[in-house]
Amino acid sequence: MSENFLAFPKDFVWGAATAAYQIEGHTRADGRGESIWDVFCRLPGVIEEGASGEPACDHYARWREDIQLIQDLGLQSYRLSIAWPRILPQGRGSVNGKGLDFYERLIDALLKAGIAPNITLYHWDLPQALEDQGGWASRDTAYAFRDYTDAVLKRLGDRPLHWATFNEPWCVANLGYGNGSHAPGRKESPQVLNQVIHHILLAHGLSVQSIRKHSKDAKAGIVIVPVIPQGATDAPQDRQAAEDFWQAENDWWMHPLLLGKYPEQVWKWKGPDVPQVEPGDLELIAQKLDWLGLNFYFPTRVQPGASPLKPAVIKPPQVPTTAMPGWEIDPKIAGHVLREFSRRYPKLPLYVTENGAAFQDPAPDAQGRIADPQRLAFIRDHLASAHGSLGDGVDLRGWYVWSLMDNFEWRFGYGKRFGIVHVDYQSFQRRPKDSGLWYREAIKNGGFSQG
Ligand code: FCB
Repeated sequence: MSENFLAFPKDFVWGAATAAYQIEGHTRADGRGESIWDVFCRLPGVIEEGASGEPACDHYARWREDIQLIQDLGLQSYRLSIAWPRILPQGRGSVNGKGLDFYERLIDALLKAGIAPNITLYHWDLPQALEDQGGWASRDTAYAFRDYTDAVLKRLGDRPLHWATFNEPWCVANLGYGNGSHAPGRKESPQVLNQVIHHILLAHGLSVQSIRKHSKDAKAGIVIVPVIPQGATDAPQDRQAAEDFWQAENDWWMHPLLLGKYPEQVWKWKGPDVPQVEPGDLELIAQKLDWLGLNFYFPTRVQPGASPLKPAVIKPPQVPTTAMPGWEIDPKIAGHVLREFSRRYPKLPLYVTENGAAFQDPAPDAQGRIADPQRLAFIRDHLASAHGSLGDGVDLRGWYVWSLMDNFEWRFGYGKRFGIVHVDYQSFQRRPKDSGLWYREAIKNGGFSQG
């Protein structure tokens, strides 16, 4: 091996991630109910080119082929999500056995192939029936989420699996109920938004309790997308704005989750907008966890703004970005986030549950090769930065690239491709890109040489 070979720990878990609504398609098959994303995508003008999760990657029909693909890439783990409306079409009440059958087959086939499933219970597809009753602004939705967890774990709890309750609850609240850019597209007041956050936290706690009840082997966790504030300059006031914003956006979730209390300072900043908390809620939220998932893509540059909660966000014109608007490329955030989580919060085994990039890919050449050097470099450089943090008390156990394959990128539709595998949306053919082939080599070698 060359001198600058970065060796990862022997038991490091190499994986890739997807989510149900982004890949499955077949949104009406086998009794699936409607989700908030089905409804949101029908609103005129909200999704690029009027796209939706239909047909996505046709994974619901092609899952066997996709397991083969995962094996061919040498992935040791695969992160997927379960669609709540396939299990409980009306959000609560009668369980749809066919929905459970699909995931049971998929999970057992993965296990049989020696691939460890890491399963997210909520990757954004709330049953529309629950949204009609108030969605996450209603406390009842948290109890419905517990009942959904019960239904899933009753069937699958005897398998030794990693479970995450939520994917990126920050986005569920802030994009779904804050700025309205994601389903259900609501723009609520700050007080209602904080109430939504509280209900999601409560749902998480109830769900972990349910996981424990039905499984002794389950590893329970949650997947967080931290905001990664960086001072726009090194000036002390910019660094302070970044620190305040970290507390306002990250401590606000992590303290209830891991310490059983809201951070005092941020609570004060929020003044009349704080959520209503019932006795016992915080104990319920702070269930013991087995692991924590972190997703990260880009930093946010800040200067002092209207308040510590609302710094001025600066978009430096000179910095390189991916194809996602304003998503700055800064691989250093990988090591930075891992160190910060290890330093600030009670320690848990960490997994990077998403990292990756959209770039404009060339069409496959005559041999079917897809050269995506920018994505390859993005993945390599973020992994290298994470590797650099391993000596600093960071307990990083594994890594999942977002995404296994090109898929439905929410409001950007199919135009933004994150896959290390290319999907032809006419034929549904899958072809590993150069980045996927590079990742396969890294997995085989337990590391890689830099640049
Ligand atoms: C994350 C989402 C994931 C995907 C990536 C690009 O916020 O969890 O579904 O869309 O961004």
